[in-house]
Amino acid sequence: MTALRTLALLSLIAGFSSSQTSDCSYYSLLDHLNLIASNSALQIVRPAKNWTTATLVQLDMFLLGILDVDEKSQTITNHIWLYTSWTNEFLTWNSSEFCGIKKISVPRSMLWIPDVRINEDVSDTGSIQDSPLVILNSSGWMYTSARQRLTYTCRLDLMMFPFDTQYCNITFSPMSSEEDAIHLGTFNSDKVLSKISEEAMVTMGEWDLKRLIIFDEPTARSTLKYMVIVERKPLLYIINFIMPLFFFLVLDLASFFINEARGEKLSFKVTLLLSISVLLLILQDMLPSTEKNLPMMAMYCVGVFTLVGISVLEAMLITFLIDFDGFCGEKAQSSVSVHEDIQLEVSDLTGIEEEKDLLKSGEPGKLLQCYLPDNRHLLKLILEEVRAVRKEAERRDKDKKRGCCRRLAEITDRVFFVLYLIVSALFLVFMCLSWIQKLI
Ligand SMILES: *[C@@H]1O[C@H](CO)[C@@H](O)[C@H](O)[C@H]1NC(C)=O
Repeated sequence: MTALRTLALLSLIAGFSSSQTSDCSYYSLLDHLNLIASNSALQIVRPAKNWTTATLVQLDMFLLGILDVDEKSQTITNHIWLYTSWTNEFLTWNSSEFCGIKKISVPRSMLWIPDVRINEDVSDTGSIQDSPLVILNSSGWMYTSARQRLTYTCRLDLMMFPFDTQYCNITFSPMSSEEDAIHLGTFNSDKVLSKISEEAMVTMGEWDLKRLIIFDEPTARSTLKYMVIVERKPLLYIINFIMPLFFFLVLDLASFFINEARGEKLSFKVTLLLSISVLLLILQDMLPSTEKNLPMMAMYCVGVFTLVGISVLEAMLITFLIDFDGFCGEKAQSSVSVHEDIQLEVSDLTGIEEEKDLLKSGEPGKLLQCYLPDNRHLLKLILEEVRAVRKEAERRDKDKKRGCCRRLAEITDRVFFVLYLIVSALFLVFMCLSWIQKLI
């Protein structure tokens, strides 16, 4: 008897407790939803009661970081967080029947998940980390999240580099080709998404997220296009590229004031040319060679390089002219001295050696003293003749130093400097204007 009573009591307790758990546990809810036994139908087919109604899948993408922009391979790497939500028409319940349970999480393997891919995606496999759970709402609305290191292709427009803004598309579309079975949209508006992204953004590198725009075209409901607008922060490039190149140009202009004679000018200019070619090399590492239009930055670099290159050539020409002139000068000097001697001999009527010595030693006064008593008039004449000869000799001496080639070199240098200054100024103004014009 006692045993029977105990059994009855136990069964009563068990029944009571079981009735309690069936009301307020997730288990009973799962039972109600028919998810406990493996219900493979829920995993394999799209959960629509009428097959003709499309399932609306909402894809909300948040940008958490701009990790890399590769100009060479034309790819951008972002850290994104993706919320995918849709409605399962079979999994609904009345929350008041289940102690007010409104949400339940279910392993994603148990349910049908929309297969949406990104068309531009070129990420490595394993860069996606899906949440293992799907959160189910009592109305049948469910969502799951995923974080991804997304690398996607984008045609980068580098014309304005480093003042460029890039407009890149991320297009979502269903993998399965079932026509119009899945419609894509977003839960939040693009304003909300960009605001949250801007606030949550941790790493941006040299880029600034300007906006996220959603293209939700009614004609193509099965694709969803996000446009990511990012702007480069140009300061580092201004300091690293634009300013040094400008200073190199200024230094090259200043080098026109270095004295030609010491031969330092040419080596200085060549050093400048080398420095610019280093910058060109660095630039070549960054910018792709596939561009149809030459980026402004490359034009600027090549322009400065060409200008300095031409000025090196000009410095070479000047050096050559001066050297050539020195050679001519030596020849001219020897011929003139012979001529001078002859002239001196002709004018020197007496032909006395001492006289010559005195004349050469440049003291005609003494000569005058020697002959003063006898032939005053003659001596005066001789003295005048000697003076004239000397003047002539001095003039020729000067000419020898500044031969015609040298004068040509000086004129060329001056004209070139003026032209160079004008061309450089025009070039800089042109670059500035076109940069500013394209920015506006
Ligand atoms: C991105 O999509 C928009 C809208 O369809 C289009 O106008 C634009 O050219 C696309 N941009 C790129 C880089 O493909």
